[in-house]
Amino acid sequence: MERLIAPSLLAADFNNLGACVQMINDSEADWIHCDVMDGVFVPNISFGLPIIEHVAKITAKPLDVHLMIADPDKYIDKFARAGASIITVHWETCPHLHRTVSLIREAGLMASVCLNPHSPVQMLENILPHIGMVLLMSVNPGFGGQEFIEETFVKIDTLKEMILRKNPECLIEVDGGINFETGSRLFAAGVNVLVAGSFVFSSQNPAETISRLKKG
Ligand code: DX5
Ligand code: ZN
Repeated sequence: MERLIAPSLLAADFNNLGACVQMINDSEADWIHCDVMDGVFVPNISFGLPIIEHVAKITAKPLDVHLMIADPDKYIDKFARAGASIITVHWETCPHLHRTVSLIREAGLMASVCLNPHSPVQMLENILPHIGMVLLMSVNPGFGGQEFIEETFVKIDTLKEMILRKNPECLIEVDGGINFETGSRLFAAGVNVLVAGSFVFSSQNPAETISRLKKG
C-alpha cells in the first residue's frame, strides 16, 4: 500500500513561505495540504486563494486543498483555477453533497469528503462511489497543534469495510495530531495519506521528519 505524506502549510513560517514550500519540494512529501478556514464553519481564519495561487507557482507537488468553509460550491472553480489538484469539502457544510462532488470532478480534480470527529462514517455510504478520498478529522478542525482523538481508529475500521464494498480505489486521509507514534499506527490501520502540520514544521529537520513519517 502506498503511503503518502501531506505536510500542512498552516504550521509553516508565513514570513518564509517560499522557503517552506522549497523544503517540501526537496523532501519526500507527496502533496501540500492547504487549510482554508473562513471563521464561519470553523472558529479561525487562515488563508485563501491568493496564497494558494502563489504556492502553485513554485511547486510541482499536488495541492491538497482542505476547505473548512461554509457554502464551498461557490468557490470550487476558483480553487481549481488557483492550482488545486484535490479539493476536500466537509460533509457538514454540504446539504447537496452529490452536486458539490460533481462540481469538483467536472473541474478535473480529485473530490474528497471530510468528516468532523463526531460525524459517523456511515453518512458516506452513498457518496463513496463518487469520490477519490475520505478525509477523517482526528481533531476538531480550526487549529493546528491539537491532540489526536483516539476514537478515529474505530472510524477507520468501519470506513475500510465500507470502501471495500463501495469503492476499493478510494483513499483514506487523516488530519490532526499526527506524529511518529500516531502516524505509524494509522498507516498500520490502512490509512493512505497522513496530514502533518506542527509536528513537521516545529521539528529540527522538517524534511527528515517527513521522510521518517513516510516510513511509518
Ligand atoms: C486543522 C487542519 C489541519 C492542521 C493539522 O483544522 O485541518 O490540517 O494543519 O495540524 P497538526 O498536524 O498540527 O495537528
Ligand atoms: Zn487540514
